[in-house]
Amino acid sequence: MLRREFLSSGFAAIALQAAGARTEESLKQAAAPSGLLVGSAVSYREIDEAAFAELIARQCSIVVSENDMKWKALRPAPDKFDFTRADALVAFAEKNRIKIRGHNLCWHEALPDWFHKIAKPDNARELLTNHIETVVRHFKGKIHSWDVVNEAVDVQDMRADGLRRSPWLNLIGPEYLVIAFKTAAKADPGATLTYNEYGLAQDGPRNEAKRHAVVALLRWLRRNEAPIQALGIQSHLNGNRPFTGLQHFLGEVRELGLRVFVTELDVNDKSFPPDVAERDRMVAGVYRDYLHTILEERYVDAVLTWGLSDRDSWLRHREKRAAGIARPLPFDDQLQPKPAFFAMQAELKKVSRRD
Ligand code: XIL
Repeated sequence: MLRREFLSSGFAAIALQAAGARTEESLKQAAAPSGLLVGSAVSYREIDEAAFAELIARQCSIVVSENDMKWKALRPAPDKFDFTRADALVAFAEKNRIKIRGHNLCWHEALPDWFHKIAKPDNARELLTNHIETVVRHFKGKIHSWDVVNEAVDVQDMRADGLRRSPWLNLIGPEYLVIAFKTAAKADPGATLTYNEYGLAQDGPRNEAKRHAVVALLRWLRRNEAPIQALGIQSHLNGNRPFTGLQHFLGEVRELGLRVFVTELDVNDKSFPPDVAERDRMVAGVYRDYLHTILEERYVDAVLTWGLSDRDSWLRHREKRAAGIARPLPFDDQLQPKPAFFAMQAELKKVSRRD
């Protein structure tokens, strides 16, 4: 057999696969010509496994720390910072020339137990600024973008401004948001400072109200001179609810001069049929439609999924399922590409061809 015939015969692919090498074009390669960054959330413990580390290095031009940069991970005690795990993650990314998103500096969850015991209105400001200064300075020059504040809006908390009644709000008041952004900007002027939020992508009355409240918050941040440069749309999608309100929302965000990142994409398949092949096909359809919608106008600069392999998905631990286990991500439990991977690859290639 001639070499050319061998390569096109499919035997080459089988031989390469047998040798453990991947043959399909990676997400990173598919997105490269467009300049779009693509990647995933990663945990420190996952990069210990060679096969998984290889998958990340091959697929991702950007990663975000899933848990290792949260307060709970970095702050064993009020007077202590432990950067061991986060540093290992950053070193791995740097070695593989992958950009890093920092997640996150200020959130109502993942606060250490000691925080709830000692935080009071008279020391909360100092706790917040000291944390942000120390963490952002520690990683200065290494972080592509920081999720400075995460999930500050909850319309169900019934405040006129839409803000969540979080510990930070209760202790400091709405200006905690401005303080957080100003402190981060001072500590690393090079990182893109991001407000990150869920419940913005799909339609529904609650999400519509949330988009409204988020745009109001972004405008308020601008008026109050908070140095914010980007919005992170988490994109934990649920089933195949439509996203018809998203374009208008993205237009409003763009009018404010903000960049947009898709920061935590996955597709909850709970409402899909139990048959695995059918479910994977439907999940892939949601990936395709969503990426098509958000990439059409080129508002978005980066797309990150919340994990690469189903086996590591937070949804596996988060909810009890009657039928089947969650399959929300582009790779299966054996790290093989699923229909969702090929849907992502195809949409990324479309953007690359268009630019
Ligand atoms: C989740 C992690 O994936 C879990 O491992 C952890 O137990 C809880 O947090 N929105 C966010 C992320 O901004 O930080 C959350 O991550 C998922 C929802």
